[in-house]
Amino acid sequence: MAYTVPKLTDYSAAALDTATRDLLAALDHESAAVKTESEYETLRIRWRARKDGIVTQVNELWLKSAPREAKRDVGQRVNETIISRVDTVLRERHDYVKSLAILKKARAEGLDAGIDAARRAAELSESVDISLPGVRRPIGAEHPVMQTWREIVSVFQKLGYSVAEGPVVETDYYNFEALNFPPNHPARDTQDTLFIAGQQAKPQRERLLLRTHTSPVQIRTMERMRPPIRIVIPGTVHRNDPPDASHSPMFHQIEGLAVDINITFGDLKGTLDHAMKALFGSSVKTHFRPSFFPFTEPSAELYVTCFICGGGGKRGPDDAPCRPCKQTGWIEVLGCGMVDPNVFEFVKDNGYDPKKVSGFAFGMGVDRLALLKYGVDDLQYFFQGDVRFLQQFA
Ligand code: PHE
Repeated sequence: MAYTVPKLTDYSAAALDTATRDLLAALDHESAAVKTESEYETLRIRWRARKDGIVTQVNELWLKSAPREAKRDVGQRVNETIISRVDTVLRERHDYVKSLAILKKARAEGLDAGIDAARRAAELSESVDISLPGVRRPIGAEHPVMQTWREIVSVFQKLGYSVAEGPVVETDYYNFEALNFPPNHPARDTQDTLFIAGQQAKPQRERLLLRTHTSPVQIRTMERMRPPIRIVIPGTVHRNDPPDASHSPMFHQIEGLAVDINITFGDLKGTLDHAMKALFGSSVKTHFRPSFFPFTEPSAELYVTCFICGGGGKRGPDDAPCRPCKQTGWIEVLGCGMVDPNVFEFVKDNGYDPKKVSGFAFGMGVDRLALLKYGVDDLQYFFQGDVRFLQQFA
């Protein structure tokens, strides 16, 4: 019997699972039978027609009538599981139907052409010396920034962190407001932002920009997952910084966030000290200095002993001044701190009551760490795509 979208009365996770599973099973079953363009069109209309298509009915019968508390969960399922699967299945089936048609046409027309092609191939193989060596194509290698990215992520995965990602084009709300940068607050000036043009008509919190850091994904993740959480968030970020030896308008960050009951600054220190030793070797020492970020309190910058001079500030037999650490013996590698209670206020309804939970966060520049790790002295080498440079990391 043909599938019909049921009304939902039970909005528990188990009931939603079953309803979703039945719907997707029907989708698979129906699409498997489609072999021609016109059958495909019928399938597409049945599932995707704006008026009364199955997806529209799901929105009406499941989402619109969901009780308030269930709305977010149902909405997420509908978007992430159902709509995306329906669209993928339709697209794949359409490709399949199209190639069937092409094949059929070729079969009908192509007998002569096929014989011709076979004859030409046979002639060619007589004139080609098959004992010659083939063309050798060089094998590519992972970019040093990506190697570093993967290495950092894996250090945290081994500590039980999972990986989350978020959009590069972000709203003002996630990039600033929910991270406790109030509108017009001067702290916003510390991140030179690239805004998308023509957004003046929208309320400020909805305006789009290129995210200046990976921290907005802290909020996005806390909206999605209840505590306790431990996540790392790698990603691309942009700032209005002209390129030079240590700046680039596009760079990479890895954010970390741990929230639970009784998380302390001691946990933050221990975690990052371990991570730095895992990345740079066990003799590296770490050092925290007070700093300021609107979304952490207290905040700190983490320094590690300079791996060029080993912390002495001088290098070589004639005690030349060490450049990477500006002779201080310490190199700043990241910003961090305890999650500000004001940030939890924005996601309080998802279990983040600032009176009950605490957490720490950190954010590091991947490109910067790759520079230090490989002893490269100009960030721009990473973005120029010069094979002579990249080959050294293969
Ligand atoms: N987002 C901050 C930056 O880009 C770094 C940071 C992340 C600081 C998390 C504290 C906590 O400068």
